Amino acid sequence: MQPLKKVGLGITFLLLALLVGSAEAKSSRRKIHRVGLQRDTDQRKILRNLGHQYKVIRSKPRLATAQAETTMFTASSSSSIPTETLTNSYNTEYYGQVTIGSQQFQVLFDTASANLWVPSVKCNQKVCLQHNRYNSSRSKTYAANGSAFQIEYATREEAVILEGFLSTDRLKIAGLTVKNQTFAEITSMPESVFNRSNFDGIFGLGFRSISIGDVNPPLLNLFEQGLIEAPLFSLILNRNASEPSNGGQLLLGGSDPTLYSGCLTYVPLSQVGYWQITVGSISLDTGSDLCSNCEAIIDAGTSLIVVPSATLAAINLRFGITAADKRDGVYTISCDKVSSLPVLTFNIGRRDFTLPASSYILNYDGTCVSGFTSLSDGGNDLTGLWVLGDVFLGPLYIEFDMEYKRIAIAPKL
Ligand SMILES: *[C@@H]1O[C@H](CO)[C@@H](O)[C@H](O)[C@H]1NC(C)=O
Ligand SMILES: *[C@@H]1O[C@H](CO)[C@@H](O)[C@H](O)[C@H]1NC(C)=O
Ligand SMILES: *[C@@H]1O[C@H](CO)[C@@H](O)[C@H](O)[C@H]1NC(C)=O
Ligand SMILES: *[C@@H]1O[C@H](CO)[C@@H](O)[C@H](O)[C@H]1NC(C)=O
Ligand SMILES: *[C@@H]1O[C@H](CO)[C@@H](O)[C@H](O)[C@H]1NC(C)=O
Repeated sequence: MQPLKKVGLGITFLLLALLVGSAEAKSSRRKIHRVGLQRDTDQRKILRNLGHQYKVIRSKPRLATAQAETTMFTASSSSSIPTETLTNSYNTEYYGQVTIGSQQFQVLFDTASANLWVPSVKCNQKVCLQHNRYNSSRSKTYAANGSAFQIEYATREEAVILEGFLSTDRLKIAGLTVKNQTFAEITSMPESVFNRSNFDGIFGLGFRSISIGDVNPPLLNLFEQGLIEAPLFSLILNRNASEPSNGGQLLLGGSDPTLYSGCLTYVPLSQVGYWQITVGSISLDTGSDLCSNCEAIIDAGTSLIVVPSATLAAINLRFGITAADKRDGVYTISCDKVSSLPVLTFNIGRRDFTLPASSYILNYDGTCVSGFTSLSDGGNDLTGLWVLGDVFLGPLYIEFDMEYKRIAIAPKL
């Protein structure tokens, strides 16, 4: 576990170009909302951007302040909870709009990092010009900070670094206005990774202990400034890629019982920083566990489920997937097979949560892709950590609670 404190998993989003490419060909008829992916025929390049791992430069564990209220928060109605509507891009990226100063940005919501960043007007790279850039001269509420900022991502093939500096400004999200939110203005970012992203920047929802530069994360500022009732959020991702604007919801400061079925199951975090839990067992067929007491992080910034490479081999064997089915880090599978594949069962907090094959196999207009991948083909895994991405989140409602350091989970309605 120790190395994870130093080498963290950051955003890991996957653009499934293969699928996007084929969806693209057919979607001109269907008028799918697309920005920036239109001319994407270079599948290899995008598929390559499978996993990104950032190394925390400096980390200092620190949790929510003493202000944390201990009163029980009961959600009365959904309308009382500030809610950010998410856009779903091909079931691989979930993002929403925020305003910094007076400028609007689309930001990817990432539960495995804790910083907010957007491209800076001081970045003249082509990739920056393709996105909204923050211009501090246009903001009356801007306060300079200037500390250097760097995030490093390690993909399977290349190290990827974003650089910039810190600035402070007003942040608006879901109708709430945070004063003095410190964020990073990015002046250099890798084109290969962000060229085709529909989002401008990333909004980290992790704990302060993994925040680079020890910047107070937006969620904690929302809470400390009295804008939300508790330092928690709830997340629902929709999985119908034909409805991009109905991508799901990020509820700030509360939970909405009308959005899930039955009771929430509370699971303490096994480690604070990421939303990391110990999963009792994960199994594909009864009697054969893929793992037991596995460490897993819930990562809305990852598209698929990332498993240790040995586990991936076992899963692929079970599915009849061979090396020939591999397309740049993901595995295709015949859609005809989906109906005969087993249900995946996660035993979390002594309760079973099941994921049918129709959830863990992604179907893009007849091209099916396995929802399992691994960051490396060989040795260097994330010390056996499972990364439960959007494929996992799809059927679930999860509340992420920084105060009680736990998640609460239920099937969504
Ligand atoms: C930034 O904003 C200032 C003030 O509106 C403007 O003069 C300047 O041209 C802008 N910079 C860029 C690169 O757009
Ligand atoms: C924001 O920063 C300004 C200037 O440093 C300060 O006067 C103000 O109290 C801060 N507001 C909050 C809510 O932190
Ligand atoms: C970035 O996108 C532009 C336009 O979509 C394209 O011309 C360019 O080749 C792309 N660059 C990379 C590195 O993908
Ligand atoms: C910049 O922001 C960091 C993180 O919030 C803070 O620790 C530091 O004091 C700030 N520096 C300046 C010069 O405002
Ligand atoms: C997905 O959305 C489309 C467009 O709104 C709709 O026609 C279709 O029925 C939806 N599919 C599912 C499985 O709900």
